[in-house]
Amino acid sequence: MTTTPVKISPIIVGTMRLGAWGAQFSTADYERFIDACLDLGINDFDHADIYGHYTTESEFGAVLKKRPDLRSKVQLTTKCGIRLVSENRPAHRIKSYDSSKEHIVASVEESLKALSVEQIDIFLLHRPDYLMHPHEIATAFEQLKKAGKVRAFGVSNFTASQFDLLHSFTPLVTNQVEASILHLDAFGDGTLDQCLKHGVVPTAWSPFGGGALFSEEVTPRVERIREVANGLAEKYSASLDQVLLAFLHQHPAGIIPVVGTTKVERVEAALKSLTVKMTREEWYDLWQASTGEEVA
Ligand SMILES: NC(=O)c1ccc[n+]([C@@H]2O[C@H](COP(=O)([O-])OP(=O)(O)OC[C@H]3O[C@@H](n4cnc5c(N)ncnc54)[C@H](OP(=O)(O)O)[C@@H]3O)[C@@H](O)[C@H]2O)c1
Repeated sequence: MTTTPVKISPIIVGTMRLGAWGAQFSTADYERFIDACLDLGINDFDHADIYGHYTTESEFGAVLKKRPDLRSKVQLTTKCGIRLVSENRPAHRIKSYDSSKEHIVASVEESLKALSVEQIDIFLLHRPDYLMHPHEIATAFEQLKKAGKVRAFGVSNFTASQFDLLHSFTPLVTNQVEASILHLDAFGDGTLDQCLKHGVVPTAWSPFGGGALFSEEVTPRVERIREVANGLAEKYSASLDQVLLAFLHQHPAGIIPVVGTTKVERVEAALKSLTVKMTREEWYDLWQASTGEEVA
Protein backbone atom coordinates (compact mmCIF):
# COMPACT_ATOMS: atom_id res chain seq x y z
CA MET A 1 0.00 0.00 0.00
CA THR A 2 1.43 3.41 -0.97
CA THR A 3 2.14 5.77 1.91
CA THR A 4 4.18 8.38 0.05
CA PRO A 5 2.70 11.89 0.21
CA VAL A 6 0.32 12.72 -2.63
CA LYS A 7 1.47 15.07 -5.35
CA ILE A 8 -1.42 16.51 -7.31
CA SER A 9 -0.91 16.91 -11.10
CA PRO A 10 -1.16 20.41 -12.58
CA ILE A 11 -4.40 19.41 -14.31
CA ILE A 12 -7.01 17.12 -12.76
CA VAL A 13 -9.54 15.34 -14.94
CA GLY A 14 -13.06 15.41 -13.54
CA THR A 15 -15.29 12.40 -14.13
CA MET A 16 -18.68 13.95 -13.36
CA ARG A 17 -19.74 14.22 -17.01
CA LEU A 18 -18.24 10.96 -18.31
CA GLY A 19 -21.09 8.68 -17.33
CA ALA A 20 -24.83 8.97 -16.71
CA TRP A 21 -24.60 12.71 -16.03
CA GLY A 22 -23.07 13.41 -19.42
CA ALA A 23 -21.35 11.49 -22.19
CA GLN A 24 -22.57 8.03 -21.08
CA PHE A 25 -19.21 6.42 -21.80
CA SER A 26 -19.04 2.70 -22.40
CA THR A 27 -16.29 0.72 -20.64
CA ALA A 28 -14.26 0.93 -23.85
CA ASP A 29 -14.72 4.74 -23.93
CA TYR A 30 -13.52 5.02 -20.32
CA GLU A 31 -10.52 2.86 -21.09
CA ARG A 32 -9.55 4.92 -24.15
CA PHE A 33 -10.02 8.13 -22.19
CA ILE A 34 -7.93 6.97 -19.21
CA ASP A 35 -5.16 5.66 -21.47
CA ALA A 36 -5.11 8.89 -23.49
CA CYS A 37 -4.89 11.03 -20.34
CA LEU A 38 -2.02 8.89 -19.06
CA ASP A 39 -0.26 9.21 -22.42
CA LEU A 40 -0.47 12.98 -21.95
CA GLY A 41 1.11 12.60 -18.51
CA ILE A 42 -2.10 13.39 -16.61
CA ASN A 43 -2.93 10.81 -13.97
CA ASP A 44 -5.26 12.58 -11.54
CA PHE A 45 -8.95 11.69 -11.80
CA ASP A 46 -11.62 13.35 -9.68
CA HIS A 47 -14.64 11.32 -8.62
CA ALA A 48 -17.48 11.54 -6.11
CA ASP A 49 -19.73 8.77 -4.87
CA ILE A 50 -22.78 10.63 -6.22
CA TYR A 51 -21.67 11.11 -9.85
CA GLY A 52 -24.08 9.53 -12.29
CA HIS A 53 -26.41 8.90 -9.35
CA TYR A 54 -23.83 6.61 -7.72
CA THR A 55 -22.81 4.85 -10.96
CA THR A 56 -19.74 6.63 -12.42
CA GLU A 57 -17.21 5.30 -9.91
CA SER A 58 -18.13 1.71 -10.73
CA GLU A 59 -18.10 2.32 -14.49
CA PHE A 60 -14.59 3.75 -14.17
CA GLY A 61 -13.72 0.92 -11.78
CA ALA A 62 -14.70 -1.65 -14.41
CA VAL A 63 -11.65 -0.53 -16.39
CA LEU A 64 -9.37 -0.81 -13.35
CA LYS A 65 -10.73 -4.28 -12.72
CA LYS A 66 -10.03 -5.31 -16.29
CA ARG A 67 -6.64 -3.59 -16.38
CA PRO A 68 -4.95 -3.93 -12.98
CA ASP A 69 -1.79 -2.45 -14.56
CA LEU A 70 -3.53 0.94 -14.48
CA ARG A 71 -3.91 1.14 -10.70
CA SER A 72 -0.35 2.22 -10.00
CA LYS A 73 -0.52 4.77 -12.81
CA VAL A 74 -3.65 6.68 -11.80
CA GLN A 75 -4.23 8.87 -8.76
CA LEU A 76 -7.82 8.75 -7.56
CA THR A 77 -9.71 11.39 -5.67
CA THR A 78 -13.24 10.71 -4.52
CA LYS A 79 -15.68 12.35 -2.15
CA CYS A 80 -18.53 11.65 0.21
CA GLY A 81 -20.85 13.63 2.40
CA ILE A 82 -23.78 14.45 0.11
CA ARG A 83 -26.69 12.05 0.41
CA LEU A 84 -28.65 12.31 -2.82
CA VAL A 85 -32.18 11.09 -3.27
CA SER A 86 -31.67 8.34 -5.80
CA GLU A 87 -33.11 5.00 -6.73
CA ASN A 88 -29.61 3.70 -6.04
CA ARG A 89 -29.88 4.87 -2.42
CA PRO A 90 -33.49 4.10 -1.44
CA ALA A 91 -32.81 4.91 2.22
CA HIS A 92 -32.27 8.61 1.44
CA ARG A 93 -35.58 10.43 2.00
CA ILE A 94 -34.33 13.99 1.36
CA LYS A 95 -31.08 15.47 0.11
CA SER A 96 -28.82 16.03 3.11
CA TYR A 97 -25.21 16.15 4.24
CA ASP A 98 -23.55 13.58 6.45
CA SER A 99 -20.04 13.78 7.86
CA SER A 100 -20.57 11.28 10.65
CA LYS A 101 -17.80 8.74 11.23
CA GLU A 102 -20.19 5.97 10.30
CA HIS A 103 -21.06 7.56 6.94
CA ILE A 104 -17.45 8.45 6.09
CA VAL A 105 -16.17 4.94 6.81
CA ALA A 106 -19.06 3.27 4.98
CA SER A 107 -18.63 5.59 1.98
CA VAL A 108 -14.93 4.79 1.70
CA GLU A 109 -15.79 1.08 1.68
CA GLU A 110 -18.41 1.67 -1.07
CA SER A 111 -15.99 3.73 -3.17
CA LEU A 112 -13.20 1.16 -2.82
CA LYS A 113 -15.58 -1.50 -4.05
CA ALA A 114 -16.97 0.64 -6.88
CA LEU A 115 -13.55 1.73 -8.09
CA SER A 116 -12.14 -1.79 -7.71
CA VAL A 117 -9.14 -0.60 -5.74
CA GLU A 118 -7.69 -1.22 -2.29
CA GLN A 119 -6.76 2.35 -1.58
CA ILE A 120 -8.13 5.81 -2.40
CA ASP A 121 -5.41 8.41 -2.90
CA ILE A 122 -7.31 11.52 -1.81
CA PHE A 123 -10.64 11.44 -0.03
CA LEU A 124 -12.66 14.65 0.25
CA LEU A 125 -15.68 15.72 2.22
CA HIS A 126 -17.83 17.00 -0.62
CA ARG A 127 -19.60 19.83 1.20
CA PRO A 128 -19.52 21.26 4.70
CA ASP A 129 -22.11 19.56 6.84
CA TYR A 130 -23.79 21.97 9.29
CA LEU A 131 -23.69 19.19 11.89
CA MET A 132 -20.04 18.23 11.40
CA HIS A 133 -17.82 17.66 14.38
CA PRO A 134 -14.10 18.01 13.59
CA HIS A 135 -13.01 15.51 16.23
CA GLU A 136 -15.36 12.85 14.85
CA ILE A 137 -14.16 13.47 11.28
CA ALA A 138 -10.50 13.37 12.37
CA THR A 139 -11.10 10.05 14.13
CA ALA A 140 -12.66 8.58 10.98
CA PHE A 141 -9.77 9.86 8.82
CA GLU A 142 -7.18 8.47 11.23
CA GLN A 143 -8.82 5.04 11.24
CA LEU A 144 -8.99 4.94 7.42
CA LYS A 145 -5.40 6.08 7.03
CA LYS A 146 -4.15 3.55 9.57
CA ALA A 147 -6.01 0.78 7.73
CA GLY A 148 -4.28 1.87 4.47
CA LYS A 149 -7.63 2.61 2.84
CA VAL A 150 -6.93 6.29 2.13
CA ARG A 151 -3.60 8.08 1.59
CA ALA A 152 -4.65 11.67 2.19
CA PHE A 153 -7.71 13.75 3.00
CA GLY A 154 -9.16 17.06 1.94
CA VAL A 155 -12.39 18.97 1.70
CA SER A 156 -14.51 20.67 -0.91
CA ASN A 157 -16.59 23.83 -0.78
CA PHE A 158 -15.40 24.63 2.75
CA THR A 159 -15.24 28.23 3.90
CA ALA A 160 -11.90 29.46 5.20
CA SER A 161 -13.04 29.12 8.82
CA GLN A 162 -14.47 25.62 8.30
CA PHE A 163 -11.18 24.59 6.66
CA ASP A 164 -9.14 26.08 9.51
CA LEU A 165 -11.21 24.27 12.09
CA LEU A 166 -10.87 20.83 10.51
CA HIS A 167 -7.22 21.37 9.49
CA SER A 168 -6.39 22.00 13.15
CA PHE A 169 -7.67 18.49 13.95
CA THR A 170 -6.39 16.55 10.94
CA PRO A 171 -4.09 17.44 8.01
CA LEU A 172 -5.91 18.36 4.78
CA VAL A 173 -4.22 18.46 1.37
CA THR A 174 -6.76 20.50 -0.59
CA ASN A 175 -9.91 22.56 -0.57
CA GLN A 176 -11.69 21.92 -3.89
CA VAL A 177 -13.80 25.00 -4.57
CA GLU A 178 -15.61 26.52 -7.50
CA ALA A 179 -13.25 28.99 -9.16
CA SER A 180 -13.18 30.48 -12.64
CA ILE A 181 -13.34 33.81 -14.36
CA LEU A 182 -17.11 33.50 -13.80
CA HIS A 183 -16.82 32.58 -10.12
CA LEU A 184 -14.36 34.79 -8.30
CA ASP A 185 -15.40 34.35 -4.63
CA ALA A 186 -12.37 32.26 -3.64
CA PHE A 187 -10.05 35.11 -4.63
CA GLY A 188 -11.50 37.47 -2.06
CA ASP A 189 -13.14 35.43 0.68
CA GLY A 190 -9.97 34.11 2.32
CA THR A 191 -9.99 30.64 0.68
CA LEU A 192 -6.87 31.16 -1.40
CA ASP A 193 -5.07 33.21 1.28
CA GLN A 194 -5.53 30.31 3.63
CA CYS A 195 -4.20 27.78 1.11
CA LEU A 196 -1.10 29.96 0.72
CA LYS A 197 -0.74 30.24 4.48
CA HIS A 198 -0.87 26.47 5.01
CA GLY A 199 0.90 25.45 1.78
CA VAL A 200 -2.26 23.60 0.73
CA VAL A 201 -3.09 23.21 -2.96
CA PRO A 202 -6.43 24.74 -3.97
CA THR A 203 -8.24 22.79 -6.67
CA ALA A 204 -10.89 24.47 -8.81
CA TRP A 205 -14.06 22.80 -10.05
CA SER A 206 -15.98 24.10 -13.07
CA PRO A 207 -12.98 26.12 -14.33
CA PHE A 208 -15.04 27.00 -17.45
CA GLY A 209 -18.19 27.74 -15.49
CA GLY A 210 -19.48 24.28 -16.36
CA GLY A 211 -19.19 25.18 -20.06
CA ALA A 212 -21.04 28.53 -19.78
CA LEU A 213 -18.01 30.32 -21.22
CA PHE A 214 -18.47 28.42 -24.49
CA SER A 215 -22.24 28.44 -24.61
CA GLU A 216 -24.12 29.74 -27.64
CA GLU A 217 -26.34 31.70 -25.28
CA VAL A 218 -24.03 34.58 -24.55
CA THR A 219 -24.63 36.95 -21.62
CA PRO A 220 -23.05 40.43 -21.73
CA ARG A 221 -20.61 39.25 -19.05
CA VAL A 222 -19.49 36.23 -21.06
CA GLU A 223 -19.21 38.41 -24.15
CA ARG A 224 -16.88 40.85 -22.31
CA ILE A 225 -14.75 37.97 -20.98
CA ARG A 226 -14.51 36.30 -24.38
CA GLU A 227 -13.48 39.53 -26.07
CA VAL A 228 -10.57 40.09 -23.67
CA ALA A 229 -9.62 36.39 -23.48
CA ASN A 230 -9.65 36.02 -27.27
CA GLY A 231 -7.35 39.05 -27.55
CA LEU A 232 -4.92 37.42 -25.12
CA ALA A 233 -5.26 34.09 -26.92
CA GLU A 234 -4.14 35.77 -30.13
CA LYS A 235 -1.23 37.51 -28.40
CA TYR A 236 0.01 34.28 -26.78
CA SER A 237 -0.78 31.96 -29.72
CA ALA A 238 -3.14 30.10 -27.43
CA SER A 239 -6.83 29.22 -27.38
CA LEU A 240 -9.68 30.76 -25.38
CA ASP A 241 -9.79 27.82 -22.97
CA GLN A 242 -6.03 27.99 -22.37
CA VAL A 243 -6.22 31.67 -21.44
CA LEU A 244 -9.10 30.99 -19.06
CA LEU A 245 -7.10 28.26 -17.30
CA ALA A 246 -3.97 30.44 -17.27
CA PHE A 247 -6.03 32.99 -15.31
CA LEU A 248 -6.28 30.36 -12.55
CA HIS A 249 -2.69 29.05 -12.78
CA GLN A 250 -1.33 32.55 -12.46
CA HIS A 251 -2.56 32.97 -8.88
CA PRO A 252 0.32 32.48 -6.42
CA ALA A 253 -1.61 29.78 -4.55
CA GLY A 254 -1.09 27.56 -7.63
CA ILE A 255 -4.74 26.78 -8.33
CA ILE A 256 -5.13 23.39 -10.04
CA PRO A 257 -8.16 23.19 -12.33
CA VAL A 258 -10.41 20.13 -12.34
CA VAL A 259 -11.48 20.11 -15.98
CA GLY A 260 -14.81 18.58 -16.87
CA THR A 261 -14.35 17.87 -20.54
CA THR A 262 -15.16 14.49 -22.05
CA LYS A 263 -12.77 15.09 -24.97
CA VAL A 264 -9.11 14.10 -24.92
CA GLU A 265 -8.04 16.95 -27.22
CA ARG A 266 -9.44 19.42 -24.69
CA VAL A 267 -7.52 17.74 -21.88
CA GLU A 268 -4.40 18.14 -24.04
CA ALA A 269 -5.22 21.81 -24.62
CA ALA A 270 -5.65 22.27 -20.87
CA LEU A 271 -2.17 20.91 -20.28
CA LYS A 272 -0.71 23.41 -22.72
CA SER A 273 -2.35 26.25 -20.77
CA LEU A 274 0.50 25.89 -18.26
CA THR A 275 2.83 27.66 -20.70
CA VAL A 276 0.64 30.77 -21.05
CA LYS A 277 1.90 33.55 -18.78
CA MET A 278 0.06 36.87 -19.02
CA THR A 279 1.11 40.16 -17.47
CA ARG A 280 -0.45 41.35 -14.22
CA GLU A 281 -2.30 44.06 -16.12
CA GLU A 282 -3.71 41.49 -18.54
CA TRP A 283 -4.85 39.35 -15.59
CA TYR A 284 -6.73 42.41 -14.33
CA ASP A 285 -8.14 43.01 -17.84
CA LEU A 286 -9.84 39.62 -17.45
CA TRP A 287 -10.94 40.41 -13.89
CA GLN A 288 -12.43 43.71 -15.04
CA ALA A 289 -14.20 42.03 -17.96
CA SER A 290 -15.76 39.60 -15.49
CA THR A 291 -16.87 42.09 -12.85
CA GLY A 292 -17.76 44.84 -15.33
CA GLU A 293 -15.89 47.44 -13.31
CA GLU A 294 -12.35 48.52 -12.53
CA VAL A 295 -10.89 47.43 -9.21
CA ALA A 296 -11.25 49.96 -6.38
N1 LIG B 1 -16.48 19.52 -5.57
C1 LIG B 1 -17.60 19.89 -6.14
O1 LIG B 1 -18.56 20.33 -5.47
C2 LIG B 1 -17.73 19.78 -7.63
C3 LIG B 1 -18.84 20.33 -8.29
C4 LIG B 1 -18.91 20.21 -9.67
C5 LIG B 1 -17.87 19.56 -10.36
N2 LIG B 1 -16.82 19.03 -9.68
C6 LIG B 1 -15.69 18.37 -10.38
O2 LIG B 1 -15.17 19.29 -11.31
C7 LIG B 1 -15.13 18.71 -12.61
C8 LIG B 1 -15.31 19.79 -13.63
O3 LIG B 1 -16.57 20.44 -13.49
P1 LIG B 1 -17.34 20.91 -14.79
O4 LIG B 1 -17.58 19.76 -15.67
O5 LIG B 1 -18.50 21.71 -14.36
O6 LIG B 1 -16.19 21.85 -15.41
P2 LIG B 1 -15.93 22.70 -16.71
O7 LIG B 1 -14.62 22.21 -17.23
O8 LIG B 1 -16.08 24.14 -16.31
O9 LIG B 1 -17.10 22.37 -17.73
C9 LIG B 1 -17.10 21.23 -18.53
C10 LIG B 1 -18.06 21.47 -19.67
O10 LIG B 1 -17.49 22.47 -20.53
C11 LIG B 1 -17.44 21.96 -21.84
N3 LIG B 1 -16.21 22.46 -22.51
C12 LIG B 1 -14.95 22.41 -22.02
N4 LIG B 1 -14.09 22.96 -22.90
C13 LIG B 1 -14.82 23.36 -23.94
C14 LIG B 1 -14.50 24.01 -25.15
N5 LIG B 1 -13.24 24.34 -25.46
N6 LIG B 1 -15.49 24.30 -26.02
C15 LIG B 1 -16.79 23.95 -25.71
N7 LIG B 1 -17.16 23.34 -24.57
C16 LIG B 1 -16.18 23.03 -23.70
C17 LIG B 1 -17.37 20.46 -21.71
O11 LIG B 1 -17.90 19.85 -22.89
P3 LIG B 1 -17.04 18.69 -23.67
O12 LIG B 1 -17.17 17.46 -22.85
O13 LIG B 1 -17.73 18.62 -24.99
O14 LIG B 1 -15.62 19.17 -23.78
C18 LIG B 1 -18.25 20.22 -20.50
O15 LIG B 1 -19.61 20.15 -20.87
C19 LIG B 1 -16.23 17.65 -12.57
O16 LIG B 1 -16.01 16.62 -13.51
C20 LIG B 1 -16.09 17.12 -11.17
O17 LIG B 1 -15.05 16.18 -11.11
C21 LIG B 1 -16.73 19.14 -8.33
